[in-house]
Amino acid sequence: MNKERAQWGTRAGFIFAAVGSAIGLGNIWRFPSVAYENGGGAFFLPYLFALLTAGIPLLIMEFTIGQKFRSSAPLSYFKIRKGAEWLGWWQVIVSFVIATYYAVILAWSLSYAYFSLRTTWGEDTEGYLFNSFLKVLPGENAGQIGSIVPNVFYPLVIIWVLALVILFAGVKKGIERANRIFIPLLVVMFGIIVIRAITLENATDGLQAFFEPNWSQLTNGKVWVAAYSQIFFSLSIAFGIMITYASYLPKKTDITNNAFITGFANSGFELLAGIGVFATLGFMAGQLGVPVNEVVTGGIGLAFVVFPQIINEIPTWPNLFGFLFFASLFLAGLTSLISIAEVFISSFQEKFGISRRKSVGFGAGAAALISILYATQGGLYIFDTVDHFINQYGVALAGLVEIIFIAWIARELSVLQNHANSMSDIRLGAWWKICLGLITPIVLGFMMIQTFTTDIQNNYEGYPTSLIMTAGWGISVVAILIGVLFTVFKWKGINSSIPASNNHKGVAK
Ligand code: PFF
Repeated sequence: MNKERAQWGTRAGFIFAAVGSAIGLGNIWRFPSVAYENGGGAFFLPYLFALLTAGIPLLIMEFTIGQKFRSSAPLSYFKIRKGAEWLGWWQVIVSFVIATYYAVILAWSLSYAYFSLRTTWGEDTEGYLFNSFLKVLPGENAGQIGSIVPNVFYPLVIIWVLALVILFAGVKKGIERANRIFIPLLVVMFGIIVIRAITLENATDGLQAFFEPNWSQLTNGKVWVAAYSQIFFSLSIAFGIMITYASYLPKKTDITNNAFITGFANSGFELLAGIGVFATLGFMAGQLGVPVNEVVTGGIGLAFVVFPQIINEIPTWPNLFGFLFFASLFLAGLTSLISIAEVFISSFQEKFGISRRKSVGFGAGAAALISILYATQGGLYIFDTVDHFINQYGVALAGLVEIIFIAWIARELSVLQNHANSMSDIRLGAWWKICLGLITPIVLGFMMIQTFTTDIQNNYEGYPTSLIMTAGWGISVVAILIGVLFTVFKWKGINSSIPASNNHKGVAK
């Protein structure tokens, strides 16, 4: 029943899609503040180290798994060892959960791109965001849902319609085409922002604060952990995304070189974002007559409170600057949302033997419905909790299990190494196996223990225990359970018997 597997039209098409997934909100609002708080200029050392010892090696591993087995994440793991299928489904559920709230941030960005045209937010940008725009319930009511907020709901509908149209159109005609247009457009738009930013008054103060190295931070374990988690999140590793995208590569293709290109393109954009954001923060600090460290934030506060404030102050063409900034957030996020949706779409298709259209309809349709939960007055608290827990105990923990499974349990690294080497320009040596078999699991394990200890000692952000138990721990555990549940069903969408792994140790346990 299986038709030919969908395939990218060109090598560049695949690279654009992978880069499109990697470049997301993490690059624009996460990287600059993480780098600043963890040693500024000195952070580049651990960051580069994490990129070379974990980021790119893992990217190569996921590209190789996807390309070799030409299957979604769960089916790829299943082909390596039957008993590992649940791990793939776990990643599928985690991706599903992330898609539901990531779409909501895109909806905000879309609204704010529109608001920029008239600086609708006025003088009190914080009050505007939380009260007028999001209509957030007061903190003591965190955990309640409240009513739907139309300001968020309508743009959210637009986001999902856009995503669905692109996903319906398929891998080549939809995803590849969208990325080929959006990614160059994003780079141009963001390039204009950076040029404008560095020509603002006092921009150099911001850049100085950003790049000034605080070498003493290098002996702080937390800084290294921050570097690794930034690289992980930023490169879209351990979401199942890169396995899925690589599964649409042709039978003969370069793997390793593609991974290097993707990794460096992503970090290049990240650096650009750091420069743009800090130049702008330097300008802001100058306007307020305060040091740069008083205006530094990341995440929602940076994008939706501080940036609108800055846009208010910019002397020439403020509206264009604002529009380009929010449109960039939107484009960067849209291409990441599409990649994460593809994880569950391809998996459902193979598992239940349904057409791509049905899978998009059911999968992305269900994600769209659930995402309405965040378009409510209580949505912000739920979003914040789910985001923290699912990243730690979904993405990062699944990443740790993935690497332990591949390197230590299935002992698949040599097989993958040979496979990648048989078709790539750059040859993988022993360094690759050392990075994956040793360095990455140790750092990730350390990272896990550290966050876990903090999270069981204190409620994240001091939120009510009921919220933490449901949207936090609850969802993290349920993601694993649902993952296991999926393994009960048979693979309906693939040709007769599944070829055993060419792992010499043979068949599954
Ligand atoms: N690499 C993405 C980013 O930097 O934002 C991570 C990501 C998040 C990918 C959410 C996809 C996604 F839906």
